[in-house]
Amino acid sequence: MLFRNAKARLNRRKLSPDLESEYWKRYRIRLKDHAAVDGIARAGALVVRTLDMIRSRIRPGVTTDILNTLVHEFTLEHGATPAPLGYRGFPKSMCVSVNDEICHGIPGTRVIAEGDIVNVDVTSILDGWYADANRTFLVGEVSPEARRLVQVTAESLAHGMAAVRPGATLGDVGHAIQSHAEAAGYSVVRELVGHGVGHAFHEPPQVNHTGRPGLGIVLVPGMVFTIEPMINQGGLGIKRLDDGWTVVTADGSLSAQFEQTVLVTEKGVRSLTPYSLEEAV
Ligand code: MF3
Ligand code: CO
Ligand code: CO
Repeated sequence: MLFRNAKARLNRRKLSPDLESEYWKRYRIRLKDHAAVDGIARAGALVVRTLDMIRSRIRPGVTTDILNTLVHEFTLEHGATPAPLGYRGFPKSMCVSVNDEICHGIPGTRVIAEGDIVNVDVTSILDGWYADANRTFLVGEVSPEARRLVQVTAESLAHGMAAVRPGATLGDVGHAIQSHAEAAGYSVVRELVGHGVGHAFHEPPQVNHTGRPGLGIVLVPGMVFTIEPMINQGGLGIKRLDDGWTVVTADGSLSAQFEQTVLVTEKGVRSLTPYSLEEAV
């Protein structure tokens, strides 16, 4: 413990004076300047508007493909491009993951039903800048168990974001998420992680949603990455479906997720895809 902290302090001291080249050489992390932050924030504002639009349209009877079309058209109408479309062969413009689906669900003929929990994940490219966010919607009357899972998942992201500040580490962020989710009796998915974002869809670093305080890369101003915990009601095991994309819980239990793109500022954290995690459910 002492050794780890000493090491983190040493890292921090060695970082200046040229953080930008240091983070590039060490981690292949591109720190973002004001112009980059501004571009990502604009893309992020559109992502949030897109999620708001979906919130007003999601209801029992709607197919996931209809939601996809809404996202696709809304994105184009606002001068942006949906990043998922064609990304590593992904066939649609957003991901939609229902109930036991953890992430990367492909929109299709599935009909949304009363009581479902539905994650919609939107990534837009605006003027070349990427922003990535998602949220899990409650459809109609949802069981108390599902509601609690979604609530705790939103809180877990909020705790992770609250741990972001210069000098903190990615391990602090993961620990904040993990301790909150596990205290509620849930498990944190390990295989899928957050990521740097901005110039591209997925950049270094990987952002784990579990971790130990003081370990991992030290956060510095200008880092932009997503935090996107996937929290399972049951065990942490996952399976991938034959469609090559959809990730589901191995035990069939429910899974929820919330994601925002965040910037490390001089003082702490700023979301570049800001929406309220308090009104999540
Ligand atoms: N938006 C997802 C993320 O949060 C990635 C989706 S990749 C896709 O990183 F190809 F499925 F769109
Ligand atoms: Co992401
Ligand atoms: Co995403």
